[in-house]
Amino acid sequence: MKASAPGKIILFGEHAVVYGRPAIAVPVTQVSAQAEVSESSRPGIWIDASDVGLHAELSTLPADRPLAALVHNLLAALGHKPYPDLQITISSTIPIASGMGSGAAVSVAVARAMASALGFPISDEQVSAFAYEIEKLHHGTPSGIDNTVVTHSRPVFFVRGRPIETLDVGAPFTIVIGDTGVPAPTKEAVSDVHKLWESDQARWDAVFDEVGKVVQSARERIATGAWMELGPLMIQNHRLLQQLTVSSPALDRLVAAALEAGALGAKLSGGGRGGNMIALAGEGTTHAIAAALKSAGSPRVIIAPVPASA
Ligand code: MEV
Repeated sequence: MKASAPGKIILFGEHAVVYGRPAIAVPVTQVSAQAEVSESSRPGIWIDASDVGLHAELSTLPADRPLAALVHNLLAALGHKPYPDLQITISSTIPIASGMGSGAAVSVAVARAMASALGFPISDEQVSAFAYEIEKLHHGTPSGIDNTVVTHSRPVFFVRGRPIETLDVGAPFTIVIGDTGVPAPTKEAVSDVHKLWESDQARWDAVFDEVGKVVQSARERIATGAWMELGPLMIQNHRLLQQLTVSSPALDRLVAAALEAGALGAKLSGGGRGGNMIALAGEGTTHAIAAALKSAGSPRVIIAPVPASA
């Protein structure tokens, strides 16, 4: 049985979303994680994930290693005993530690492939909940936005702990994603922002509130098809993320290069410190922005159209 899940990018609201403010994210279907689960001729449950150099039988892995934890959780919840001999093969084109939801996408693909291989129906809510448990191992205190957008594979307006709200997209627009090539685990950035917040809660809550206002304005513009007005909001969100100390010279360089090449707006996306930035392309500027990001040193540029809601 095979299953796949897309990558994601956060358009607005990362980090503040951990503190209860809203955020907006969209799936990126140009990259994905795949999982295949079949009966194995070898005894045990074998996990092969060549992208991360993992070839091992489940019982030999530490129980808190994310993939092992996921498979243990699934087997326990699916109530399949005795455990069947299984082969789980995972591959992914989503860059790791880059803010594109690679961990969540692997979890979602494995959960769906295992449930269908073992003959258990599984709802989207259950899939998202399994992925969320593993996000805690990757991130510490995740908001839940990554597992939500990756599971549902549609644009979301997300508030931590609330049921998923679909984001209406009034007219299609195009995002250009530029990778800094610098891997940056989200956990560290999230934990540093937490230290900052603890040092002066009133000050940083005010910054999170400003991010929340940006997200609300962005939602209205996206819904009414006024995407060409999103640029200043992206620039404002990037400045607030700089204040939160999660930008980096490489991210700032790519943001500046995109703006010089005619992007309407640009900002870092995801945990920051490295990973990816995004730029909003006006009519006819997509390729100039992509070329500018490459010449500014981005090893990987993805053009991600955001389609209008059906
Ligand atoms: C990571 O994609 C987004 C963050 O806001 C963390 C989270 O929401 O869990 C940085």
